[in-house]
Amino acid sequence: MAYNIKETRATASRINEVDINNIVMGHAFTDHMFICDYEDGQWKNPRIEPMHEIPTHPAAMALHYGQAIFEGMKTTLGKDGSPLLFRPDENAKRLNFSADRMGMPLFPEDLFIEGLKRFMAIEHNWIPTSEGSALYLRPFMYADEAFIGMRAATKYKFIIFASPAGPFFSKPIKLWAETKFIRAANGGTGEAKAAGNYAAAIRPTEIARTKGYDQVLWLDARDFEYVQEVGTMNFFLKIDGKWITPNLGGSILAGITRMSVIDLLRDKGFEVSERPITMQEIVAAFENGTLEEAFGAGTAVGIAMVEEIGYKDMKIKFPAENPVSEEVKQTLEKIKHQEIEDKFGWIVPVE
Ligand code: COI
Repeated sequence: MAYNIKETRATASRINEVDINNIVMGHAFTDHMFICDYEDGQWKNPRIEPMHEIPTHPAAMALHYGQAIFEGMKTTLGKDGSPLLFRPDENAKRLNFSADRMGMPLFPEDLFIEGLKRFMAIEHNWIPTSEGSALYLRPFMYADEAFIGMRAATKYKFIIFASPAGPFFSKPIKLWAETKFIRAANGGTGEAKAAGNYAAAIRPTEIARTKGYDQVLWLDARDFEYVQEVGTMNFFLKIDGKWITPNLGGSILAGITRMSVIDLLRDKGFEVSERPITMQEIVAAFENGTLEEAFGAGTAVGIAMVEEIGYKDMKIKFPAENPVSEEVKQTLEKIKHQEIEDKFGWIVPVE
């Protein structure tokens, strides 16, 4: 379907106020935003406007009942300097998976892609080129109806904005295997990219940091035994030459980096199982010397190598070398910059 996306341009760009090639993600924002309103049962008035604050009624339902979901994506420049999106169709689908779980309206997937392309056609100057950098895109939806009461809102906004992002972690990370707090339980909202999931993780992450760890290794809600996610990433582990990642189906977010890494590892000839991983299995592999590599995989962070897991009174150490994880990280980066062939068809140019 062809959409009429109205464009209002900023009178001047703020790009010269920031060094986009030397920046921590989330502090600077590009000049524009894509915005669309939902009311009377339909999405209306898709438009691109200069980046601005949005008036919020104190009774806006997202603030009270948490109908708020988001996506994370990164755009890079291809070999001819043109902007590229990475698997945007997967983000469009996952947004709607989250919307459905949270009782929110679905957003048309073709408008999601069209909005992104139109937005990126305007903002492409903001894509950093330094190694490990990209322009992070944040599509999100929230309930902005002013109402007190427990039901789905009838008014929402869908917005896309962007923030130039440098590399996240400069060295391997230490994880704290959390045995008191949980991130998500089967049947809850952990499979959705819902704002509340992140809220629940903030305090436990702060506590892990006071213990000297970078991120939490989230365990299951019933037994505190099965590994789920690491920080805001999916978890990958190599034991005795074989890769494992926790299987989805209940409380784990279906990461787009996760699905890409599984394909890349298999393409490199590795066996990858999606199955439950227990802490007992990790401890046993550490003790018998078969624990080889581990990393977290997510859009914002990319691939973050794991150096240590703190579990109860143990320190589970990983070997200092991460040859396969490094190779996967490099391959993903090269695909995203068209330095090698995109044989999986993941890259979508912004025409
Ligand atoms: C992402 O990896 O894109 C996320 O959504 C994590 C976010 C907390 C930065």
